[in-house]
Amino acid sequence: MKEFADKLIDWYEENKRDLPWRHTKDPYRIWISEIVLQQTRVAQGYEYYRRLVERFPDVFALADAEEDEVMKYWQGLGYYSRARNLHAAARSIREAGVFPTTYEGVLSLKGVGEYTAAAICSFAYDMPHAVVDGNVYRVLSRWMGIDTPIDSTVGKKEFAALADALLDRQRPALYNQAIMEFGALQCTPTQPDCLSCPLSDSCVALQQEKVDTLPIKQHKTKVTNRYFNYIYVRTGGFTWIRKRSEQDIWKNLYEPLLIETSEDYAGNDLALWTKLEDVLGKRLRESETDLRVCFRPLKQGVKHVLSHRVIYANFYELDLPDDVEVPEGYLKVPEEDLHKFAVPNLVYQFFSLILGSNNQNS
Ligand code: ADE
Repeated sequence: MKEFADKLIDWYEENKRDLPWRHTKDPYRIWISEIVLQQTRVAQGYEYYRRLVERFPDVFALADAEEDEVMKYWQGLGYYSRARNLHAAARSIREAGVFPTTYEGVLSLKGVGEYTAAAICSFAYDMPHAVVDGNVYRVLSRWMGIDTPIDSTVGKKEFAALADALLDRQRPALYNQAIMEFGALQCTPTQPDCLSCPLSDSCVALQQEKVDTLPIKQHKTKVTNRYFNYIYVRTGGFTWIRKRSEQDIWKNLYEPLLIETSEDYAGNDLALWTKLEDVLGKRLRESETDLRVCFRPLKQGVKHVLSHRVIYANFYELDLPDDVEVPEGYLKVPEEDLHKFAVPNLVYQFFSLILGSNNQNS
């Protein structure tokens, strides 16, 4: 078994990427990097990590910030519960006074599961905890030829035990970095370069021609379709947005006026206008001008794919008189302030069409 770790570490020394979180033992920075890198590629996460630790150099700076600002720093990265949990955990660490120094303490942080706790404790404190993430499942299932589903209870137990048995206890930080990097660069999900692999001699999947089929997952991710109609309201230099507060996607991010429908309303502007009238109330219907002429589709049939949903979005513009009452739950904000609010990528795309992308930076 020692050979496995040695070969991985030799490979790592030759092939590793030079990444900023690999030059620190600061548990705070390692924690930030691991949360950023959950479900996220290094190429995408790199710049977010850099900006986060620059603005929030320690856990107290993060705890002292408003959640809205943290969300803004997370804008575009997706899986926004990571940012909410990160901020909540920073506040609990501020309360305790120090970053937790035990595995159980780290594991108890909001948003930190077994994988992240093992990563932080091995990288920052050299504790012998083996990481098990998607990369590790792939490497181990292939190298050992294990077809137990990785998303089953038995599979999780089996792989955790195996990862623990294979861990180099003298060098847990190096070993954990090595196996994850190996999964990311060498034992890739598709078309791995087995010819150049240092473990090819002992790889069961390669011998049994199972590289393409391992690891096995038993459940397909369920995807639901949703139909969003976003309306950009212009009212005397102001627009309407609201903070999404429900237990739903994009919680605590902002969005313009939304009418969600149970089917696609693309091309059905009049029907949507009727729904809009219900939202805006009778004051609007009694308005002297016919506001229907101020309601325009801007772009329809925008498909936005998330991990568990596909959103079909239509974008509209609506010009309203200055004195129309803001619907409940919405804020009236100056258009030039829109860039200050954290918005989902889909909304960013919409605002870019309206305002031009230059006006949305920062
Ligand atoms: N993905 C998750 N953690 C990582 C790390 N420390 N380095 C590179 N990719 C990672």
